[in-house]
Amino acid sequence: MSEQNHSLVIQRAVDAIREAVPDAQPTVGIVLGSGLGGLVDGMEVIGTVPYRNIPGFPSSTVEGHAGRLVIGKLGGLTLAAMQGRVHLYEGYSPAEVVFPIRVLVRLGASRLIVTNAAGGVNPDFDEKEIMLITDQLNLSGSNPLCGENDLALGPRFPDMTDPYDPGLLQLTREVADEIGLKLREGVYAGLLGPSYETPAEVRMLGRLGADAVGMSTVLEVIAARHMGATVLGMSCISNKGAGLSAGPLSHEEVKAAGAAVQADFIRLVTAVIERLD
Ligand code: HPA
Repeated sequence: MSEQNHSLVIQRAVDAIREAVPDAQPTVGIVLGSGLGGLVDGMEVIGTVPYRNIPGFPSSTVEGHAGRLVIGKLGGLTLAAMQGRVHLYEGYSPAEVVFPIRVLVRLGASRLIVTNAAGGVNPDFDEKEIMLITDQLNLSGSNPLCGENDLALGPRFPDMTDPYDPGLLQLTREVADEIGLKLREGVYAGLLGPSYETPAEVRMLGRLGADAVGMSTVLEVIAARHMGATVLGMSCISNKGAGLSAGPLSHEEVKAAGAAVQADFIRLVTAVIERLD
């Protein structure tokens, strides 16, 4: 069995977090994607743990991804926020990529909010819009559940009918409406990366039913669902997919768009969390 998928290894990380932040009782976990880490500024922080202090936690090698877990209060709930995640393209195994998700769920986060920066595949989508993820295509070529299954974590063949929770989706639509925020909806395709797609690949993704494309999230959602956590997902459309706009794509553009959307994003996530019980 992959070491990371073992419940004892996960428990060791949970224990380290509880030791660093004795009052850590998060019920909601959130993964903050490129340029979206500012959400923690609105939190009443209880404690911060750098990933390097958590046994088994991988550290991101990508610029723009800090590596720390921030535990604090937002909207009356205790949140565990991951500032930075790791990706398959960095050379981590699928089990390593989802290890922090497993730790958050074990820590008590039965609801998970996953966020990312993504390219728009749907030609109607503009840069700096927020897309609610209604479903996903795992096109990464891998799955974090490969290998022996630890039944203490979840079943061998988990159901994926509702990767993104219908109740949380509906709540988020209502909240966006209340705060006057335009929200897109669609299917997120997760690819391996790290090269951006070719224009032909973006056209292919559109035909496959994708509305946005990125290099994260899909494996995390599989691991979360495996453990029975419910998931809400949001993409910040940082750019139009290759071939849908004139210029070339750059990581700088992705980060800048994340920063520009951050205020709207924080407003939405905070309002959603305030409505959770
Ligand atoms: N493609 C893949 N991943 C991305 C993109 C994109 O266009 N933009 C931000 N992340």
